Amino acid sequence: MKALSLRELEAEAQRRLEPGAYDLFAGGADDEVTLRANENAFARLGLVPRVLRGRGRPQLETTLLGCRTSMPIVIAPTAFHRLAHPDGERATARAAAAAGAIMTVSMASTTAIEEIAEASAGGTLWFQLYLQPDLGFTEALIRRVEAAGCKALVVTVDSPVFGRRERDLRNGFTDLPSGLCCENMRPAGPGGTRGPARPIAFSEALSWEHIDWLRKSTSLPLVLKGLVHPADAKMALERGVDAVLVSNHGGRQLDTIPATLELLPPIAEAIGGRLPILLDGGIRRGTDIVKALALGANAVAIGRPVLWGLAAEGEAGVAHVLETLRSELERAMALCGCGSASDVGPELLHVSRWEK
Ligand code: FNR
Repeated sequence: MKALSLRELEAEAQRRLEPGAYDLFAGGADDEVTLRANENAFARLGLVPRVLRGRGRPQLETTLLGCRTSMPIVIAPTAFHRLAHPDGERATARAAAAAGAIMTVSMASTTAIEEIAEASAGGTLWFQLYLQPDLGFTEALIRRVEAAGCKALVVTVDSPVFGRRERDLRNGFTDLPSGLCCENMRPAGPGGTRGPARPIAFSEALSWEHIDWLRKSTSLPLVLKGLVHPADAKMALERGVDAVLVSNHGGRQLDTIPATLELLPPIAEAIGGRLPILLDGGIRRGTDIVKALALGANAVAIGRPVLWGLAAEGEAGVAHVLETLRSELERAMALCGCGSASDVGPELLHVSRWEK
C-alpha cells in the first residue's frame, strides 16, 4: 500500500473507481458548502502542544456503550460497499475486527447483516437504521440485527427526505448496478427465503415519539445520528437515548449546515458529560481527532476514507485506513504531551488573536 495519507488514498481510489461511483461516494448536497466546511474547520483550528509532561506512549483504548475498542475511531455507516469493491462489507468487517475497531453497518449495505456478522467473526458491529414508515418491517429488521449480534442501534435522524446530490443527477446515477441491492431490505419469505429488496423509505414525519417507540422495541443501546442543534441534544438526554453522533451526514443532506467541529462545543455543553458524544464529518488526520476530543467528543466516526481504502485495495485498504489514523492519532497525542484521552482538553486549542 503506497498511500502515505488518507488524501493520497482518495486519489488512488478515484483512479480505480468508475467516475459515477467516485462521485456518488465523494459528493455532497447542493453546492457542497457543508462538505467543504467539515474538512476546512479542522485545518483552521490550531493545536498548541504541552511539553515535558513525561506521559510515555499514548493509550488509545476506550469503551463505547460497553464495547471495548482499540481506539476512539468508529467506522461510520456508508451504503453500497460492494460498489467500491467486490468483497464489500465483508472486507470492511474483517478489517475492522482485526484492528479491534467498531464497524457501524449501514441499513443500505449491499451484504446482509447476517453475512457481515459472520465475516466479522466476533468483531463489534453496530447497525444503522433509517426508521421505515412500515413499523412492522422496522421491527422485523431490528430482530434480525439483534440475532446477528449487533451491539447498538444507530438511528439516523437527519434524513426525513433525501438530500439533492447534483453529481448523481448529472451522472444519471439512479440505481445500483444489476446484481447489487440493499440486502437488509429483503423481507423474510417462506422457508427461510428472502423476497425482493424494498426501496429504503425516508420518514418525513419522524418524531421523538418514534424514538420512544424504538426505545421500547429493543434493549440495544440507541445512538442518535445527525443531531447538530443543542436543543435537540437536550431532548436526546430527556428521551433516554444512550449516545449522540454529531453529524451533518458528511454534507449529503441539508447543505450549509456548518462544520460539525464548530457545532460540537454547544452540544457538549448541553450534554454536560451525561452521554457519550461521537462526531463525524471530515476526519482525515490524527490531529483532526485530537481537536474533536479536545472540544468534547468521546470518539469520532469516519465515512468516506473507509470507502477509499476499500476501493483501492479491499480488506487491506480498510486495514490501512484504520492503521494510518490510529498511528497518526498516537503520534499527534504524543506530540501534544498527552498520554490518554483524559489529557486532551481545550487548553491545546489555539484561539486566534488575528481572526474575528
Ligand atoms: C454516507 N452516510 C450515511 N449515513 C447513514 O446514516 N446511513 C447511510 O447509509 C449512509 N451512507 C453514506 C454513503 C456515503 C457514500 C457517504 C459518503 C456517507 C453518512 C456517513 O455515515 C457519515 O455521516 C459521513 O460520511 C461522515 O463524513 P466523512 O467522514 O465522509 O467526511
